[in-house]
Amino acid sequence: MNIKLINIQKRYDETVALRDINLEIKAGESISVMGPSGSGKSSLVNLIAGTRKITEGEVEYNGNIVDNKTKKKVIKKEASTIKITFQNPNLQIFTKTVFDEFMFPLRNLGKHEDEASMIANVFIDKLGLTHLKDRQPHTLSSGEKRKVVLGSLLVMDPEVIIVDEPTAFLDEKSVEEFKDILNGLNKEGKTIIVVTHDVDFAKAVSTRTIIINDGSIVEDGSTENILSDEKILIENKLKYGDNNGN
Ligand SMILES: Nc1ncnc2c1ncn2[C@@H]1O[C@H](COP(=O)(O)OP(=O)(O)OP(=O)(O)O)[C@@H](O)[C@H]1O
Ligand SMILES: [Mg+2]
Repeated sequence: MNIKLINIQKRYDETVALRDINLEIKAGESISVMGPSGSGKSSLVNLIAGTRKITEGEVEYNGNIVDNKTKKKVIKKEASTIKITFQNPNLQIFTKTVFDEFMFPLRNLGKHEDEASMIANVFIDKLGLTHLKDRQPHTLSSGEKRKVVLGSLLVMDPEVIIVDEPTAFLDEKSVEEFKDILNGLNKEGKTIIVVTHDVDFAKAVSTRTIIINDGSIVEDGSTENILSDEKILIENKLKYGDNNGN
């Protein structure tokens, strides 16, 4: 899926979170979205996913324009192949077991129990969660929760996967696991968009980096070029390692 943002603005009451955003994302890209806290990263990726409303401007999915005059139903249909894990995984966990988290979307799609259970098990295994299958999701660590949420979206086979700060507060081992998972998905041809504060992580999972500062795109280009520029890192408060997890 190709995505185009045209003259996008996002406001929350008085706060202007995004201004004059023009952006094109091609199918199969791997992109990091970086920038200081409060700069508009989560707002941007939620507009792309259709999980927050645009204040002004348009989003095009494969050339089909979606603006605020378009019916919500159309937005849902167009955005249905884009899935996002929110910054706070607790907002996307709502069943009694890990297994049920994976089953829920499949049942919603009308799959029979046998087929649903087969698919669920494949993804539980793929994300290394087999030993946690019967656990109550709210008792999991934040890394485990993030994997459950990601996996429960992957069962729907989205074309575009957006993850908002997947590695905040995670240990090194879990960070490495997330790198492998995201790189694997991109190799399968899926578009990957990752919001991260961690320069190392961005370098490992993306070929393109977009930096947002104070609601505007200030850099957009190859990860290699942008993240090797010390001046850009300092100006945008970008660091190695990730201990920002608000
Ligand atoms: N629901 C909301 N209501 C009011 N203001 C909001 C809301 N969500 C975000 N904002 C404001 O919009 C701006 C951008 O927020 P956003 O969450 O997009 O930033 P961010 O770059 O993701 O930050 P962080 O790195 O802390 O996650 C901030 O000033 C924030 O306070
Ligand atoms: Mg955010």
